[in-house]
Amino acid sequence: MTATTLPTPADLSITPRDRRFGRETATPRLWHGGRVEATAIYNALSSTFPIGEAYFVESVRAFRKGAPPRLAEEIKAFTTQEAIHSREHDAFNKRASEAGYDLSKLEARVQERLAITRSRPPIVNVAATMALEHFTAILAHELLKNPSHLDGAEPEAAELWRWHSVEEIEHKGVAYDTWLHATRGWPRFKRWKVKARVMLLVTRNFVVDRTAGSLELMRQDGVTGLRAWALLLWYLWVRPGMFRKIAGAWSKFFLPGFHPWNEDDRYLLRAYEASVADAPQSKKKVRRAV
Ligand SMILES: [Fe+2]
Ligand SMILES: [Fe+2]
Repeated sequence: MTATTLPTPADLSITPRDRRFGRETATPRLWHGGRVEATAIYNALSSTFPIGEAYFVESVRAFRKGAPPRLAEEIKAFTTQEAIHSREHDAFNKRASEAGYDLSKLEARVQERLAITRSRPPIVNVAATMALEHFTAILAHELLKNPSHLDGAEPEAAELWRWHSVEEIEHKGVAYDTWLHATRGWPRFKRWKVKARVMLLVTRNFVVDRTAGSLELMRQDGVTGLRAWALLLWYLWVRPGMFRKIAGAWSKFFLPGFHPWNEDDRYLLRAYEASVADAPQSKKKVRRAV
């Protein structure tokens, strides 16, 4: 595979869906089925999005100039989608704060990590974004494929996570294609070596930081020590077992010839669209960012 024969589907359309969630109703503190660990994990993840997604956009846009026209268009749509995700997760995080959680430690951790990465060259930043976007795409795939992940969740919150997942799948090739474009002159092995190293580092940081963040939020609910670890590990690795279920998709990243669109999972998008077909706001398009 070369940078000029990208397997992103020719008929893929990246369509920002400008939706708003949870503005009318109060979100209960333990919104995820009354479960401390489930609420903590999703809240910990959400706390990273406004800061993290702004960083993704900045990393990818650094390579927009000189990109082939189709990729430049996709970067534009990606930017708009991520900006709306940040807005909605910012609102979601405010509701978590209003419910009594203090997210400041979690947000500070993301800022610390990004300060280190931002001090590196732009190619390192786009590599980190490409790896994290693979992560979000496989999480999104699993979330949409297996409804048990959102069992018992408050409906508006569940809807927010599904909507975000759909758009993460839709734009899953953008950071990767930007990376391929930016490294088009590199030998194959160098490209593989850098992306594999970045993925391993990003994965370690992701697992360590999200675990620490989840434990911190569980502590704020009075659940600590072994009990907290047991609940968290059971939820992530056993049932519903998100980490166990994405392990296979995660490892495919290291295969030669990997591309996010080697798996065309747009059937999940079609199923989502069918499920919200009656909601008028789902059809609304927004002006794409320039
Ligand atoms: Fe996003
Ligand atoms: Fe994304």
